[in-house]
Amino acid sequence: MSGEKAQLTALARRFGTPLYVYDFDLIRHNFEQYRRAAGTTDHLICAAVKANGNLALLRRLAQWGSGFDVVSGGELERVLMAGGRADRTVFSGVGKTRDEIDAALRAGILLFNVESEAELDLLAERAARLRLAARFGLRVNPDIAAVTHPHIATGLRQHKFGVTLALAQKLYLRPRPRWLEPAGISFHIGSQILSLAPFARAAARVAQLTARLAERGVALRYFDAGGGLGIAYRPGQRPPTIAAYVGALRTALPPGMSLLIEPGRSLVAAAGSLLTRVLYVKDSGRKRFVIADAGSNDLLRPSLYDAYHDIQPVIPRRGARRVVEIVGPICETGDVLGRERRLPPLAADDYMVIADAGAYGFSLSSNYNARPRAAEVALEGGRARLVRRRETSSDLAAADLAEPKK
Ligand code: LLP
Repeated sequence: MSGEKAQLTALARRFGTPLYVYDFDLIRHNFEQYRRAAGTTDHLICAAVKANGNLALLRRLAQWGSGFDVVSGGELERVLMAGGRADRTVFSGVGKTRDEIDAALRAGILLFNVESEAELDLLAERAARLRLAARFGLRVNPDIAAVTHPHIATGLRQHKFGVTLALAQKLYLRPRPRWLEPAGISFHIGSQILSLAPFARAAARVAQLTARLAERGVALRYFDAGGGLGIAYRPGQRPPTIAAYVGALRTALPPGMSLLIEPGRSLVAAAGSLLTRVLYVKDSGRKRFVIADAGSNDLLRPSLYDAYHDIQPVIPRRGARRVVEIVGPICETGDVLGRERRLPPLAADDYMVIADAGAYGFSLSSNYNARPRAAEVALEGGRARLVRRRETSSDLAAADLAEPKK
């Protein structure tokens, strides 16, 4: 048995399944790639917390010098709990509430990425009320089509995100309330994007706007290029390297501005696996189903986006491969982890490893069917450490107000 197989088997036995396993060393390597690619350009990498908000991971990222991109008060709290700094954190999202805005102002957030005129008005009002400076950037929608799943494309005018370039220009040039400081501009055109061209085009369009604004006396400091770089989930997919991606952004970066990047998937996806155990194998006449103990409540991406994740037995058995459907235990037809996979024979109690699950895996998981969420383990320097225990049924009932029956 190879070292990796032995380690995965040992982890599954020790901590149970379903189990998320993250290679922190690989995440650090990816983070350093971003840093190295940015080189001498003034920059801040703001890890997108939504991709993976595990506290031990956020703590490490903060220690390595990362900033953060948050989209809710809850994510900001997690960053602060993990020792991250608000003045290295940007706050994005189309629906910030008044309480969330207040909390971010009090914490001293680096930049609010504002997505509408009404939000800008609310931010001005809250900043004045609290007498705290609000640095803001408008999230512009550069109207660029990016080839990705429709659910995760964001950069077209038909999407709910951001404001048009024309409205942004108008809002930046508007007489400015005292506590509001135009400090940046941001865009994010979608996720799992596998070519450089749309990033370069969007960045160039936004750079043109910043030049027009500078001519009219509004000099912005932060050029926030969002996230979106894809990874190879399927054999044959060839995403740009982190170096090429950051290179394209640096090329477009207007002189004197500081580059912010909000990577999620490209930082953490490939560094995470979901370990699961086979519960049953059954034939329906037409198909063979492998029923795993992980379901769409643990990993939603295949059901929600028809996403592909490689799935392999941890220790392949000898015998002819055949095509199987890998499904979970949830009472939904859509609870599929892998369709039509050609795999070696599988039997009850075999462990399987679902690849590239480090981004939008645990963070999109739920308690549907009253299933406790999975445990999470970090691998670092060859050592394994439990960084989030498996939930229990009392965790799930903790917020219920009905008297439990004794
Ligand atoms: N910045 C903003 C403003 C975003 O909306 C996102 C992702 C990111 C950064 C990070 O993007 P990334 O580097 O991860 O592509 N749940 C979907 C992905 C949703 C992405 C939402 N926004 C999935 O599992 O594919």
